[in-house]
Amino acid sequence: MKIGFVGAGNIGQALAGDLVAAGHEVALSNSRGPETLADVVASLGEHAQAVGTEEAIAFGDLVVVTIPLRAVSDLPAEAFDGRIVVDTCNYYPARDGQIAELDDDSLTESELVARLLPGARVVKAFNSIFFKHLAEQGDAAAAPGTRRGIPVASDHPAAKQLVEELIDEIGFDFVDAGPLAAGRDFQNGADLYGAELTGDALAAALGRTEAPG
Ligand SMILES: NC(=O)c1ccc[n+]([C@@H]2O[C@H](COP(=O)([O-])OP(=O)(O)OC[C@H]3O[C@@H](n4cnc5c(N)ncnc54)[C@H](OP(=O)(O)O)[C@@H]3O)[C@@H](O)[C@H]2O)c1
Repeated sequence: MKIGFVGAGNIGQALAGDLVAAGHEVALSNSRGPETLADVVASLGEHAQAVGTEEAIAFGDLVVVTIPLRAVSDLPAEAFDGRIVVDTCNYYPARDGQIAELDDDSLTESELVARLLPGARVVKAFNSIFFKHLAEQGDAAAAPGTRRGIPVASDHPAAKQLVEELIDEIGFDFVDAGPLAAGRDFQNGADLYGAELTGDALAAALGRTEAPG
């Protein structure tokens, strides 16, 4: 698969490394231009390239947006029309400033991203795992259910399925949290944010959070 990255920091590099190791092609952008990513793509190897942000958005089967949340509103929204977007972003007011819809919980973090990129099919994933764990904890050989669980939320089943395949390939357990609104259960501030659980345990925990009472 060909996977674009808008953002080539901690999470962008960790996830790109996992995906290259699994046999995929990646193209990464940042805010300062592709020439500043020479060392990053050199360390990722021949299946990685540095590009501009518009090129990263258009590059492949999906695009990972992994930047400070406040910067999403600076992206060229029309370029995302029809794209599958994997949103790893989290809301940290100290970094991102106060965002009223998140402060009053009228939107989840990824619903805000979906509103900012209205033509995209947004999948919330990889927001709830420390970047070093993303680089190191994948174990494709381990039995499904016993691997570290990655919670995923989206309103777009086909897009979610594509992300499920990638999560499995890089050695984690895909855990379907439900629609995009269910990101509330594992975004910053939620009990399950950053939870280090197996896929089976995470699925059970998410089930409990959804149960009445
Ligand atoms: N760190 C973690 O363990 C972790 C875990 C899960 C989720 N997250 C979330 O995932 C997101 C990325 O986290 P991170 O730790 O990888 O951040 P980071 O290390 O600070 O990297 C941010 C990246 O975004 C790029 N960027 C900023 N504004 C941009 C723009 N307008 N266009 C294109 N690229 C832009 C930066 O490029 P420049 O350097 O050129 O500015 C940099 O490559 C954040 O929302 C974070 O909360 C982080």
